[in-house]
Amino acid sequence: MKTPIYDFLENYSRSDTLRLHMPGHKGKAPAPLKAFECDITEISGADSLFEASGIIEESEKNTSRLYHTVRTCYSTGGSTLCIQTMLALMKQENRTVIAVRNVHRSFLAACALLDIQPLWLFPDYSGGILSGGFPYDKAEEMLKQHRNACIYLTSPDYLGKTADIGGISKLCHRYNAVLLVDNAHGAHTVAMGTHPSQLGADICCDSAHKMLPALTGGAYLHIMNPAYADRAKAAMSLFGSTSPSYLIMASLDLCAGYIAERLEDDVKRAVCALDALRKRISGRYEVYSGEPFHLTLLCDGKDLADQLRSFGIECEYADSGCIVLLFSPMNTPEEIERTADILMKCAPKPPVCSGKISFLQPETALKVREAVLSDYEEIPVEESEGRICAGVNVPCPPAVPVAASGEIIDKNCIKIFKRYGILTVNVVK
Ligand SMILES: Cc1ncc(COP(=O)(O)O)c(C=O)c1O
Repeated sequence: MKTPIYDFLENYSRSDTLRLHMPGHKGKAPAPLKAFECDITEISGADSLFEASGIIEESEKNTSRLYHTVRTCYSTGGSTLCIQTMLALMKQENRTVIAVRNVHRSFLAACALLDIQPLWLFPDYSGGILSGGFPYDKAEEMLKQHRNACIYLTSPDYLGKTADIGGISKLCHRYNAVLLVDNAHGAHTVAMGTHPSQLGADICCDSAHKMLPALTGGAYLHIMNPAYADRAKAAMSLFGSTSPSYLIMASLDLCAGYIAERLEDDVKRAVCALDALRKRISGRYEVYSGEPFHLTLLCDGKDLADQLRSFGIECEYADSGCIVLLFSPMNTPEEIERTADILMKCAPKPPVCSGKISFLQPETALKVREAVLSDYEEIPVEESEGRICAGVNVPCPPAVPVAASGEIIDKNCIKIFKRYGILTVNVVK
């Protein structure tokens, strides 16, 4: 029998590729973890993730202290499971969900599962669907109209841009609204004092596996608002597997030790090296400004990704307008310097399609849930004008929806689909 997945992984791990993509461990174990020996189930003494009262609870409390939260719950289903949990908690209180549009697809999927119809806040876009500024005035207007609400936003977003969580949380709390933050890309920011738990968010999720040395799937649901501390586990168990991976939990356990003992130093060292890299390449590249570990360059990203691959660097994301090189505190200054050397050898081409995308709210014909659960067909994007978007049809990464499920695809959506290389779309039959 052929073993295509194992062979690929073996080859990749044997190569000297510099991994400027997730997961955050970059292929280096912070401590030895024996895969098969440590893979168990809920035997006596091993506790149980959704009813934790033993070793899992103890470990979660260690992490909670590091993040200054009321409660931190481990997830072995990534931030996806945490997002489902956050939204289930909002559903239980019948809150209106106001979401900044550049959400990850997991948000829309959770809305479909929970029958939540979000109200959208379109950010002030800066050239694409992935990133943008927070529209305060529109947000305040919506909070005035919806007195039992929450705001859901993504920060850092896929390009590394961060929102003013402190300011937005004050706005939310003025209107008794709850602030939920998708901090999937920001578990490391606790070492810089810019974690949502330090800035006033009520609940947030971190994909520990994206930015810290945790195994893929390892994430945190951080609860800062005590109202949700006791309900979180039950909400999480609605969606999570009854066989959560002990390997992933063990990697989160080890990660707590890493955060306590090494994170701050590693962050300082890496940020210093990344600052030097940014200075060095500034004459050659247009660098998008954002959180330090996301190095986003505005150029023909696909072409640059190919050039970098030929020098042994694999990026996180590339499209015709940008490339994201994702570092983590596990990257050494030498690796960052090696990246700078290679970037100086590459010749970036201008973005293939630059210019501002005006992203307007398409008309809504069906609720998200109805659209996601209807019979659908896949058709070429060119033929989709006037049809209702069904399932979330987005490239992964970045997995940000162009048309949300239930919206009528218009000319503008088609333009954006094409820009992101999306050739077909699922529409309601
Ligand atoms: C912004 C954002 N939110 C949520 C997720 C889902 O996270 P996970 O893969 O940990 O389930 C992702 C995944 O890439 C993401 O980029």
